[in-house]
Amino acid sequence: MSPHAENITEIVAGLTRPQKSISSKYFYDERGSQLFDAITQLPEYYLTGTEIGIMRNNIAEIVELVGKQASLIEFGSGSSLKTRILLEHLDELAAYVPVDISEEHLLASAQRIGSEFPDTEVLPVVADFTRKFDLPTPRVMPLRNIVYFPGSTIGNFEHSVALDLLRVMRHEARENGALLIGVDLQKDAAIIDNAYNDSQGISAEFNLNILRHLNQVYAADFDLDEFSHDAQYDAAEGRVVIHLVSARDQVVHIGETRIDIAHGEKILTEYSHKYTLQGFAEMAGQADFRVEKVWADAEDLFSVQYLLAI
Ligand code: TRP
Repeated sequence: MSPHAENITEIVAGLTRPQKSISSKYFYDERGSQLFDAITQLPEYYLTGTEIGIMRNNIAEIVELVGKQASLIEFGSGSSLKTRILLEHLDELAAYVPVDISEEHLLASAQRIGSEFPDTEVLPVVADFTRKFDLPTPRVMPLRNIVYFPGSTIGNFEHSVALDLLRVMRHEARENGALLIGVDLQKDAAIIDNAYNDSQGISAEFNLNILRHLNQVYAADFDLDEFSHDAQYDAAEGRVVIHLVSARDQVVHIGETRIDIAHGEKILTEYSHKYTLQGFAEMAGQADFRVEKVWADAEDLFSVQYLLAI
């Protein structure tokens, strides 16, 4: 099957189960990526700004822990400001290895980073980082592997999948390696609810854009006016549950496939788990990592954590 046909099969499967869902990977077409960038700039969306502040405030200590001649392996394409803060300060890296499934996006971003940091060997790897993959061999022999996973993206995976992903990271970190990871923290529900329900309605636009993407690329016929954004923090589960809610009984098509959606029925588009320090440390331990250092902001909204391979 072609990748396009495989995606359609996956989309139809998600929309024909009792709990309808659309994979959050369909958020990120060009417009979706722009809208997400706009979300990261919103006053309510504390995550990005707080994480950048933590990186800046603690960069000397981070550089000290990483040490010289490490290989920095980023899970994701590495286009963020956080990556640049690290690369600016880690000036004796053996290599920078961004890993992403989207080849086009990865190579474009690797090329930009290569020209901004001409002394660092940049070795992009096209791979699905939820499974073990082979690492390239840098010209300079790395003294240790440091896996970098910013943005609290770990929170977008359900616990068992997040644990599997930590195990892949542990595998790539190897003996003597470490993981530097951004982890959003449990806190007052109102702060979290506001982050996912901003006053300008960008969060809603971003969530609804997933339907526009399916219309444009996968021959769907969703009427965006007939769905609304719904994001609520479930404090007992420690996660934001993000849905699109149908405004009436309606029929939509994905190509030839008919899908019936009831008035009030919810389509799940994403979970965003928030952790306690203890809960995250327990999961890290199950993946053979030990929490060496936790940095947070003054209000304990967000954390950046350094985990050693054990
Ligand atoms: N991965 C982001 C997060 O968990 C996604 C996100 C942020 C999001 N705001 C949103 C998804 C609003 C849908 C709607 O924080």
